Amino acid sequence: MTANARPSLDWLQTSFGPAGAKAAQKGNVRHFSLTLAATLVTASIAGAAGQDVPKPERGEQIMNAACATCHDLRPIDTAALDEAGWGREVKSMIEQGAEVKSDDVPALVDFLVKRNGPLPEGPGKDVLLNICTRCHDLQRVRRERNTAEGWLEILDAMLNEGAPLPEKDLPVLLRYLARNFGPAPH
Ligand code: HEC
Ligand code: HEC
Repeated sequence: MTANARPSLDWLQTSFGPAGAKAAQKGNVRHFSLTLAATLVTASIAGAAGQDVPKPERGEQIMNAACATCHDLRPIDTAALDEAGWGREVKSMIEQGAEVKSDDVPALVDFLVKRNGPLPEGPGKDVLLNICTRCHDLQRVRRERNTAEGWLEILDAMLNEGAPLPEKDLPVLLRYLARNFGPAPH
């Protein structure tokens, strides 16, 4: 797995069937499984719902059918807009030729807001949008709540997965995640 490869969702699912099957190919099973175990433990202690499998929903089906014909989903993955912003974006894409029935627009916009809604401003936001969306979408990150320590373990696991996160960006991203996606108040 090179840093530039763009694994599909299928790949993400199958590669974790027996956890670390892919890591085995890379020859660093032990480090990987320790890190992943630590991550999962941290996640369950924090009570995060990070392990829920998202159900395919109508908005997602509409997006997959209408928004991946001229370009792939990359411009959506790297955007963080509110409802008004996605409303304008979808309108503009329809004007360019995207085929979305007007009845389907609200479900699509709702889904886009859920998938790629606004993110807090600050250093680290661009890194998150550009680097952390290459293998999975941002919902995986958004539903996670963690301490800085927990986030560091996750980032370590992602680096181990091959995330092309430059060393200089790691502390910036870590701070951004810890500040904006810290442990949920109980
Ligand atoms: C008919 C071709 C076409 C379809 C279908 C299409 N797009 Fe686009 N999209 C473009 C083009 C061309 C650009 C870049 C130029 C531009 O922004 O106008 C773009 C750019 C974008 C961008 C980057 C921001 C921007 O405005 O440049 C986003 C976000 C986006 N599209 C979302 C969507 C969504 C959501 C859908 C599904 C409703 C969609 N696109 C379907 C042609 C299309
Ligand atoms: C090279 C591919 C890749 C990149 C890039 C990547 N991830 Fe991941 N990520 C994964 C895989 C694989 C999983 C595990 C999927 C599963 O368990 O179903 C995962 C899962 C996660 C999870 C869920 C918690 C967990 O441990 O399962 C979080 C949170 C996460 N990634 C955050 C990030 C962040 C933040 C970045 C940006 C630095 C990032 N990811 C970039 C591959 C990647």
